[in-house]
Amino acid sequence: MTKKITVAIEIADTGCVKTLVEALKNLPGVETVQWFAGTGEKGSLAVKESPEVIIIDDQRETSFSVTERISKLHHAFPQAAIFVVSADTRPEHIVAMMRAGASQFLVNPINPNALSNAIEEIRVRLATSEKTTKGTVYSFISSKGGLGTTVITVNTAVTLARNRASKVALCDMSLQSGDASVLLDLLPATTITDLSRNFHRLDASFLRGAMSQHRSGLAFLSAPADPEESGEVSPEQIARILDLSRQLFDVVLVDCASMWVADRTMEIFNLSDKIFIVTDLSVPAVRNAARLCKLIAKLGIEQKRIEVVVNRYHKSGALSIEEVEKTLKKPIYWLFPNDFVDIVSSINQGEPIVEKQPGAPFAKNIIEFAEKLGNPRADASYRGIRGAFGKAI
Ligand SMILES: Nc1ncnc2c1ncn2[C@@H]1O[C@H](COP(=O)(O)OP(=O)(O)OP(=O)(O)O)[C@@H](O)[C@H]1O
Ligand SMILES: [Mg+2]
Repeated sequence: MTKKITVAIEIADTGCVKTLVEALKNLPGVETVQWFAGTGEKGSLAVKESPEVIIIDDQRETSFSVTERISKLHHAFPQAAIFVVSADTRPEHIVAMMRAGASQFLVNPINPNALSNAIEEIRVRLATSEKTTKGTVYSFISSKGGLGTTVITVNTAVTLARNRASKVALCDMSLQSGDASVLLDLLPATTITDLSRNFHRLDASFLRGAMSQHRSGLAFLSAPADPEESGEVSPEQIARILDLSRQLFDVVLVDCASMWVADRTMEIFNLSDKIFIVTDLSVPAVRNAARLCKLIAKLGIEQKRIEVVVNRYHKSGALSIEEVEKTLKKPIYWLFPNDFVDIVSSINQGEPIVEKQPGAPFAKNIIEFAEKLGNPRADASYRGIRGAFGKAI
């Protein structure tokens, strides 16, 4: 079956639009929509469609330059290919358009064959990309409130995003008291509530449009601004949001509500490649971590997807690592050091510690943790802290 392609045309010149519409009409499985100048640049919430192709020209009918338009459209419709129609065939102009992110340069007047080839190329690309693997989902949950899960999740996400090697998203699914936006110093105009209220039209570009961009490159989906809205988000919606996120991003990190495992958390766990349970070395937290491990296993999730990590590690904790491992019947995956002063100052300034003070003990440790995540063959015995003579603890 021919894959259906929606083409949005955002061009003011009516003659050019007419030629395009006529040529596209002759192609199978192509639906054409027309957008007013500048509409697509306002983001996916401004339009109904989520096109596979957006065709613009390089005439200045909006307040943005053509390269700015391409970049804005890319951000709002990451899945769409952008075609630029132009009569300016100077090589330097063509190169500038392609550098800005255009995937096709179409000479005006339009040659229907060139347009048809360009659309078919997109169809082939879409068919292939649907077969490719989805992004990796890491979820983080505290065994007890206030153990530092949000600090760990946000800093790991920012570290991975700063690498620029992969597309990274952070979803704040601590729905009642999500505060990841505070740590990132972002004031998102849209939150997960907007996705829930517009669930019927939720698709990849709508999701992307509801996310905020952090300077590190991280895409961020905020928890509801008002805790009262948290009840509106259903388990089904959580599952759909995460599934779309892993289609859009290489790595998706989820900050879960502490301890409490309800249907919504189960959906997150089901879709997670790894679930990190955060504990400290206190008796109540470790006891809860053991309960959580058991509960997750009962859901049918394999043990190898569950990892326990210790935050605020210091040698004189109430329990030793050996005691904790015995209680949990599994090895500890990672130890994050106690670094109260540096972390509090980073939280107060809304600047993740890995950006603000990459040399601080906690930041250095997070950077190594992010490396271990990206490299499953990394030294399994090293888990963040070295003891005497540099030996891994
Ligand atoms: N490694 C650490 N060393 C010292 N203090 C830490 C460390 N990690 C976190 N903290 C402190 O713990 C506090 C709580 O952290 P955070 O909000 O990340 O916890 P949480 O588990 O997400 O809590 P909640 O249950 O509210 O979601 C932070 O304000 C910070 O002061
Ligand atoms: Mg938290």
